[in-house]
Amino acid sequence: MNRSWNRRDALKAIGITAAGVMIPNGAYADLVPQPIEFPDDTALRQIDKPVTAIVAGAGNRGNVYASYSERNPSALKIVGFAEPIPFRSKRFADRYKISAERQFKTWEDIFKVKKFADAVIITTPDALHYGPAMAALEMGYDLLLEKPIAQSWQQCSDIMNLAIRKDRIVAICHVLRYAPFFRKMKEIVDSGVLGKMVSIQLMEPVEHIHMSHSFVRGNWRNSRESNPMLLAKSCHDLDLLLWLTNKHCTRIGSFGSLTWFRKENAPQGSTDRCTGGCAVEATCPYSALKIYYRNRSWLHHMDLPAEGDKGPAILDQLKNGPYGRCVYHCDNDVVDHQVVSMQFEDGITANFNMEAHTSYAGRRIRIMGTEGDLIGDERDLLVSNFKTDMVARWNVDEHAATASGHGGGDYGLAYAFAQAVSQHNPAPLSTTISSAMESHLMAFRAEEARAEGTTKAVGEAR
Ligand SMILES: NC(=O)c1ccc[n+]([C@@H]2O[C@H](COP(=O)([O-])OP(=O)(O)OC[C@H]3O[C@@H](n4cnc5c(N)ncnc54)[C@H](O)[C@@H]3O)[C@@H](O)[C@H]2O)c1
Repeated sequence: MNRSWNRRDALKAIGITAAGVMIPNGAYADLVPQPIEFPDDTALRQIDKPVTAIVAGAGNRGNVYASYSERNPSALKIVGFAEPIPFRSKRFADRYKISAERQFKTWEDIFKVKKFADAVIITTPDALHYGPAMAALEMGYDLLLEKPIAQSWQQCSDIMNLAIRKDRIVAICHVLRYAPFFRKMKEIVDSGVLGKMVSIQLMEPVEHIHMSHSFVRGNWRNSRESNPMLLAKSCHDLDLLLWLTNKHCTRIGSFGSLTWFRKENAPQGSTDRCTGGCAVEATCPYSALKIYYRNRSWLHHMDLPAEGDKGPAILDQLKNGPYGRCVYHCDNDVVDHQVVSMQFEDGITANFNMEAHTSYAGRRIRIMGTEGDLIGDERDLLVSNFKTDMVARWNVDEHAATASGHGGGDYGLAYAFAQAVSQHNPAPLSTTISSAMESHLMAFRAEEARAEGTTKAVGEAR
């Protein structure tokens, strides 16, 4: 029998321990009075029977969501998957004990057999979201769908309309909305302590090595093969702006380009691969030998043996795979810096900057209100009140120990999704497809504006 869960149960289920989430100094308590709460606590129930799910694409993200089934087996059980790379397929089948008849090579195969689970988790590459999403909805599955929804506005609309027609739950993986840091920020904004919202500045410092890994050498380097940067990376940011303002975006403009990771900037003596005798390898910040082999970092997209010395396998991948390529000799075209200017209802303005050339990561945000302002960097929140001159600080590490990526957002979403599917009710989710449509429309419009050198009306998202 279902029963409402208390906050402690819920935090445990997503791997967040919350230790006294009030602002420590009692004098400031009225400024930020509330602890972290789920958007709609009354929507949470004990899950009596785990939600069963099939993973389409057992790569990095597929494994992240599947691993939630190990943390909370009473909420989620993985019962099948599709993955074309044999190494990944075997690793996934072994870890989640998937029977042979429920191991598939490609997403199409999942839908050739009778429906055998509650949901499909779609973590295939960006260009392979539309096909599995439409097929899964046709067969009556609920969906956990990685962002971006799809590669065009028409495709996004098709998925949305089919979800409505089939009455299915579609959660989009805008995971930051489930992270304690951003939950707290939203709570502060909604509490009214900043007065009427006037404007927001949001910056995403991608960090230069992350840029080189994902957007120069890696999966999201080419806008035709995946998506423009604004969809591939920054749809999270447009989503955050909509969520925080709680208003529609009316007009948008954008500038940006690929300044640095181009052939004409290749240093003299550089070679097509870092392993090819490059004359500047020892001093290049983007040396693949340094990043992957010597520092053993950013290895999560490489298929490496679980045990023993990984060195020979890394070297082999650098000699033959995408991550060994010189950053100045790749087939990349996505921007390394972009600004987006937005007008929201009620005169609220926002500016967003995506910056690849930074030594640091972690979104920087400033929210300006008529009675106070907020400054955040994914660790600390500083809230100032103009009337009292008081400043309150809230630090995520002091108040919430998170057990998953994206500041705890990954498991937060997995938990909310399991809740929603088990109850046949989207209420526990704050990132249903209908909530995600407008941020995607903003991204498509901003890209048109950037290409045409104009500004664009954003219009209706449905
Ligand atoms: N929510 C987030 O913050 C976040 C973060 C990173 C990536 N993503 C998104 O998640 C998705 C997956 O990214 P990733 O980092 O896991 O990439 P990945 O390359 O590690 O995983 C994708 C997997 O899909 C498999 N695949 C390819 N073709 C397939 C097919 N026909 N059928 C089934 N599987 C197939 C690949 O072999 C690979 O293992 C992308 O859309 C990406 O943009 C979201």
